Amino acid sequence: MDALRSLGRVIVAFWILSHLSLLAYSSSPQDLQILNAERRIDLSSHIVKVFLTLKVENTGASPVSEVLLAFPPTQVDHIASLKAALTVGKKKKKSYVPLEVNPTDLPDAPNQTKYFSISLLNPLNAGETATLEVLYILTHSLEPFPAEINQAESQLVYYRDSAIILSPYYIKQQTTFIRTPSTKVESFTRVESTNRAGTEIKYGPYKDRPAYSYSPVIVHFENNKPFAVVEELVREVEISHWGNLQITEHYRLSHAGARHKGVFSRVEYQSRPSSGGISSFKYLLARLPPRVHSVFYRDEIGNISSSHLRIDYLKSDLEIEPRYPLFGGWKATFVIGYGLPLEDFLFESPDGRRYLNFTFGCPLAETVVDKLIIKVVLPEGSKDPSAVVPFSVKQHLETKYSYLDVAGRTVVVLEKENVVPEHNSPFQVYYSFNPIFMLAEPLMLVSTFFFVFMASIAYLHIDFSICKTSS
Ligand SMILES: *[C@@H]1O[C@H](CO)[C@@H](O)[C@H](O)[C@H]1NC(C)=O
Ligand SMILES: *[C@@H]1O[C@H](CO)[C@@H](O)[C@H](O)[C@H]1NC(C)=O
Ligand SMILES: *[C@@H]1O[C@H](CO)[C@@H](O)[C@H](O)[C@H]1NC(C)=O
Repeated sequence: MDALRSLGRVIVAFWILSHLSLLAYSSSPQDLQILNAERRIDLSSHIVKVFLTLKVENTGASPVSEVLLAFPPTQVDHIASLKAALTVGKKKKKSYVPLEVNPTDLPDAPNQTKYFSISLLNPLNAGETATLEVLYILTHSLEPFPAEINQAESQLVYYRDSAIILSPYYIKQQTTFIRTPSTKVESFTRVESTNRAGTEIKYGPYKDRPAYSYSPVIVHFENNKPFAVVEELVREVEISHWGNLQITEHYRLSHAGARHKGVFSRVEYQSRPSSGGISSFKYLLARLPPRVHSVFYRDEIGNISSSHLRIDYLKSDLEIEPRYPLFGGWKATFVIGYGLPLEDFLFESPDGRRYLNFTFGCPLAETVVDKLIIKVVLPEGSKDPSAVVPFSVKQHLETKYSYLDVAGRTVVVLEKENVVPEHNSPFQVYYSFNPIFMLAEPLMLVSTFFFVFMASIAYLHIDFSICKTSS
């Protein structure tokens, strides 16, 4: 009997042990838990910025080298940028070490959850903790409601998220803060521990939430910030070794907020600018590099002179004003062009190749670009071009012909969707160039003149001979 009982105990113990290890293995890919999570969602413009601070702990037995971030599938398509950094040091000596982040897939992800994996520089050993700072940007994530408003109405929008942070890890403590542009909040979902003060709504603190906890919330609030979306932007950057960098930018801009209904009254708009078109926008600010020259701004009709340019040492601010204010659903297409001194942007790398160092993204402030195409037109005779961009872009080569070109110019085309101001960072295009090609254009000119000269002599000669025979 005793022997049987102890055999029973052994079997039970074995069963528990085997299931425990199975659980530990299946609950999360690694044995991490989040000690504290703080999320700040900034809804003050139409581009949503989310700052997330995670204090993670390795509760397992083996070192862990990646931390997963989870997103619902509806949100992941709107992520324009995601950056992570490791916090080193405390208080005043705090510094941030950027970490690599990549989208990743997990088998049997619940509810089609999507993941990004943050790669730690040094694996986190058992029992150790690390603090991570994450910033992600969401576009097209504020839904206007009502979807149509008239000229005098304010714009109201919905933002949807979860009060509890979606995570594949157990979270010991967490809080979410949502900042609205003003105190005009129509409604917001109240779940347990919800507080609102001024422009801030606070969800939490919540303690001991299992992995994949979710609690949907909706905030309905006023947002009259310009919903400036460039549906397509084509920027052509043309390098001329004669000292100039010529930029031409083709914009298809739209107001992506609540659609305008009824007729537009310019009288009402001009007499009461604050209420007669509060959700519209009139000016846009383009931040151009210092030392710009020959700036132009035109649309289908022609040059628009109502733009102001302020130049200082660090930047040039171009304030552009379309012919009419933009209301929800309205579009404007226009072209901006400017020249820049080549020596500010073209350099020679140690291996003797030349490279252009220019800014990616869109010069317009607080603007989303649905599709950005940058075309770098290299001088004729350039070889082996290669682009270095700090994020993934589509690339291909084209050839452009302009007058006096013999073989055409190589064009490096870079394409990216869902571009936000965080993408305004330097990129480089390297190429080899034989200076003998500098002579190609003058030689073409000289030979053209020579040809014309010879042709006219020949013509005169023929003419002369005709005269001669007729007389
Ligand atoms: C998946 O979604 C359903 C419905 O939204 C929800 O009830 C369920 O708890 C979710 N499952 C997980 C594992 O998050
Ligand atoms: C428009 O402006 C540019 C640059 O200032 C100028 O070269 C061009 O002639 C102007 N075009 C018209 C139609 O006024
Ligand atoms: C490109 O220019 C930026 C400043 O505009 C500078 O910080 C960066 O080092 C430059 N990159 C290269 C490769 O020259």
